[in-house]
Amino acid sequence: MAKGIYESEAFLADKDFVFGLLGDFVKRRIAGEEAGVDDNFSEVLARTLEDNDGEVDLQELISEAYLLLMAGTGNTAKLLNCGLQHILADSEWLGEFREELAGYGQDSFARGIKAYPKFKATIFEIERMFPAAPVLARTVAKPFEFAGYRLERGEKVLHLQTLPHFWEEVYEEPYRFKPIRWIENKYSKKSRGSFGGSTHICLGMNLARIHMPIVLANVLSGYELRQESKDEIKVNFNYGVPQVSDILGRFVARI
Ligand code: HEM
Repeated sequence: MAKGIYESEAFLADKDFVFGLLGDFVKRRIAGEEAGVDDNFSEVLARTLEDNDGEVDLQELISEAYLLLMAGTGNTAKLLNCGLQHILADSEWLGEFREELAGYGQDSFARGIKAYPKFKATIFEIERMFPAAPVLARTVAKPFEFAGYRLERGEKVLHLQTLPHFWEEVYEEPYRFKPIRWIENKYSKKSRGSFGGSTHICLGMNLARIHMPIVLANVLSGYELRQESKDEIKVNFNYGVPQVSDILGRFVARI
């Protein structure tokens, strides 16, 4: 069986290179190198030192630096891949979707995607069904009690903020990719956790919501995807990529 991309030598070499680079960067900052500008990592480092009496966990800081560097690209790609698979598998919806996009051009979304309700519904359904970051890691700052459990300062907590995406009482048939639900229903903001919430809500949310529609509209209005491998995409309950195999195919221009 062919090796998946994440096991390939090229990928592992790139990974070593990137994490090596980030490791050097983090060590230099811990040693006192100035950022030059007031960047986000300076904030992270200052708070970590303050909260932990000057102690730092190097690996954790390298992961933070990686997330700051990577934020967004992987998530957006994952959502698009998963969404495309489902849209292409539903020829009826694909037809209606393309009808709505007829005449689509580079200025079409200049005023947002309100004028494209089916398209908007599709984006929301992709966000619901394939949350790229379904669970968030948190550390208790102030002790509190939740559902009979006492949580002390410093304890690690996983917050499954996208759980409502799969609650039957909120979304009927939650495991079905059904964009039309967004046209037929009005859902509360609290039932949507793809971009997190509160103070640390995704800084790139608005950018992702520009990127995804543009890519999807360009791909689906201009191309047919000739898929050359079986897709294996599942609903993701874990942190990481819900795509369990590479997808091979060719985009062929529509005439
Ligand atoms: C579909 C795409 C994306 C998804 C699903 C996503 C998801 C998330 C989530 C769930 C969080 C909250 C993390 C937490 O509370 O611990 C977050 C934070 C963040 N995201 Fe995104 N994100 C996406 C795209 C982007 C893009 C395009 C950028 C930047 C260009 C970005 C930058 C950030 C940053 C900097 C934070 C940290 C905010 C903070 O801690 O105050 N994200 N993202």
